[in-house]
Amino acid sequence: MVKRKKKLKLKKKVKKMLLFSVIVIVLLIFGIKFVIGKYQEYKYHQTIEYKLLQKDYTMDDIKLLNDNFDDEYLNNLINEDYNESLIKLLKEKYFIRKNLDRYLNYQIKNKKMSLQEIVQLVNVNRDSDYYENIIDTDLSKDPVFLVNKYYHLPSDYVPQNLIKVSASYGYQGNIVRSDALEAFIDMAEAAKDEDIVLIINSSYRSYDDQEEIWQYRKAVNGQSKADQYAARAGHSEHQSGLAIDIAQFNSKEEDFENTPAFNWLSNHAHEYGFILRYPKDKENITGYAYESWHYRYVGVEAATKIYNENITFDEYYAYYIDK
Ligand code: DAL
Ligand code: ZN
Repeated sequence: MVKRKKKLKLKKKVKKMLLFSVIVIVLLIFGIKFVIGKYQEYKYHQTIEYKLLQKDYTMDDIKLLNDNFDDEYLNNLINEDYNESLIKLLKEKYFIRKNLDRYLNYQIKNKKMSLQEIVQLVNVNRDSDYYENIIDTDLSKDPVFLVNKYYHLPSDYVPQNLIKVSASYGYQGNIVRSDALEAFIDMAEAAKDEDIVLIINSSYRSYDDQEEIWQYRKAVNGQSKADQYAARAGHSEHQSGLAIDIAQFNSKEEDFENTPAFNWLSNHAHEYGFILRYPKDKENITGYAYESWHYRYVGVEAATKIYNENITFDEYYAYYIDK
């Protein structure tokens, strides 16, 4: 009897101890979990992401910031108020990271300008005056190297594979780079199927030819007007052998815009790798008055992108080639 009682007591004791142990273990697990959670929370609060969220940046903003900046830059951002204008800049389609400081400087000088225009103009170097910071064009990008008022060709540059244009496709004396001429002939044949005749009026011009043209223009119209219509030597696409001026028989350059040929080219030139190089209303980007007759061969891929996005070659080069 006494033995049974003792046994029961022992059983109860063991049960109690077990229950106690279970409670201790559960408490311990919860405790550890709580401490780990708190530690993780503490750690997260130290992160740039958390600090940016505290400054009202959204997760989308933070992704953009992470894609464009290093931790040092982001740490500086944390010490300032939410920078709405920076986020808007990063969201601009043609934003280029390496131009950021230039966008900000240009914005200070042009407070009323939209961010889109600031990005557009800085990308094409309009924050410098024409012919101010001249860069050697990168010929390794052929055929999409840029020749404009900022990028130039060496004075002794003569393209390889220049070919005489036959009388069927151009006026006498024209020479064009073979790849561009081949594409032009394909284009002219397609146009001919629709009763449209495309004639090459002017094409390759040497450095010296261009110098003569510009000096003549300058003498007749003054330097400022000359610069609107003619490139200075070394800065003309005609020296690349990839530019062609297209004409109609017995018709002036200025009238080309009103011809079916111009209309046809507006819809099809890109299919053959050509672009209208100095479009209307883009003078501030290209640096030249509208030239409905001047086409540049850049290849089908580039020409199609330029056509689809309705951008100039200058903008295309900055964003897609040089970025
Ligand atoms: N007329 C174009 C801009 C040139 O001279 O190359
Ligand atoms: Zn031209």
